[in-house]
Amino acid sequence: MRVLLTGAAGFIGTRIRERLIDGGHDVVAVDAMLPAAHGEDAAPPDDVARVDVRDAAAVADAVAGVDVVCHQAAVVGAGVDAADAPSYAAHNDFATAVLLAQMFGAGCRRLVLASSMVVYGQGRYVCPGHGDVDPVPRTRSDLDAGAFDHRCPICGEPVDWALVGEGAPLRPRSLYAASKVAQEHYALAWSESTGGSVVALRYHNVYGPGMPRDTPYSGVAAIFRSALEAGDVPRVFEDGGQMRDFVHVDDVAAANVAAVEAGTEGFNAFNVCSGKPVSILDVATALCEARGDVSPLVTGQYRSGDVRHIVADPARAADVLGFRAVVDPADGLCEFATAPLRGPALPS
Ligand code: UD1
Repeated sequence: MRVLLTGAAGFIGTRIRERLIDGGHDVVAVDAMLPAAHGEDAAPPDDVARVDVRDAAAVADAVAGVDVVCHQAAVVGAGVDAADAPSYAAHNDFATAVLLAQMFGAGCRRLVLASSMVVYGQGRYVCPGHGDVDPVPRTRSDLDAGAFDHRCPICGEPVDWALVGEGAPLRPRSLYAASKVAQEHYALAWSESTGGSVVALRYHNVYGPGMPRDTPYSGVAAIFRSALEAGDVPRVFEDGGQMRDFVHVDDVAAANVAAVEAGTEGFNAFNVCSGKPVSILDVATALCEARGDVSPLVTGQYRSGDVRHIVADPARAADVLGFRAVVDPADGLCEFATAPLRGPALPS
């Protein structure tokens, strides 16, 4: 198939491009080479054209004759502050709207969209006495006292985490999350009006070789890895019991190839995860052990707005796309402890 891959020079896009080419696909690779991701004045890699997806004319050229678009280009992460809003809206939401319009014009009716687990907000919780509950937000006094788990809105007891399925409500709690939900909604509306197919892949915590170094837009894996590289130790917030699903970039690439090759109709969303939840303390410990004689520091500090647990159900992606992660986080994190990272993404 002829595949337009946006964000092709990025951490995830680079791996997807390799996998698509290995799979015999004809890849039209584009990337805006945003300074926040690639540094100032970075040239695109060979065979990647510099295209900003907000540029309708450039997208019209790129999408001509394409069977499927694999849309990875985005501004990611938690951002710095509210001043980031126009950047998320422009690069994620407006660019997706431009892309969908140009796909419509070119007669291309298949989209694979990079989404994120951040669309779920706080995750899913179960009270031992009251079943599935919408937990009460964590209070400053609980957090200051080291009581990090959410409480049941009925009995006030701590609640347990549970796997989040794709049918969970979308509750964005950050600018980035809002932009990912908006992208999904534009794509859903496009699918309804054109009869096109959309596969939204909700990535969980992606890690692996080539991950950008620690920036204000980085997830915890890059932060811990960068600390170790600098001769520092990972600083684990709360009590380290926060549960996440760390999925290797090669598995994320494989999920994208499966989605590109899938024959799904209408709008479908899938969790892309390893299915092997791990605590943040275990991640820090695994990285430290792989590097030798260092241990993480559990600080007991917390970040307001952090999600306590967010852990996904991988079943639907396995059933419908045939995607199952093959990299066990225990192995992948061990490799990641010494894997090369990308150069500094932002001026220090
Ligand atoms: C992260 C990203 C999110 C992305 C998602 C999937 C942020 C804030 N969130 O979500 O945009 O879509 O991964 O890839 O970038 N922590 C420490 N020490 C640190 C930093 C973080 O213990 O130095 C803890 C945090 O308190 C949190 C956990 O690690 O409990 C995960 O943090 P992080 O990766 O930043 O956020 P996620 O919510 O997992």
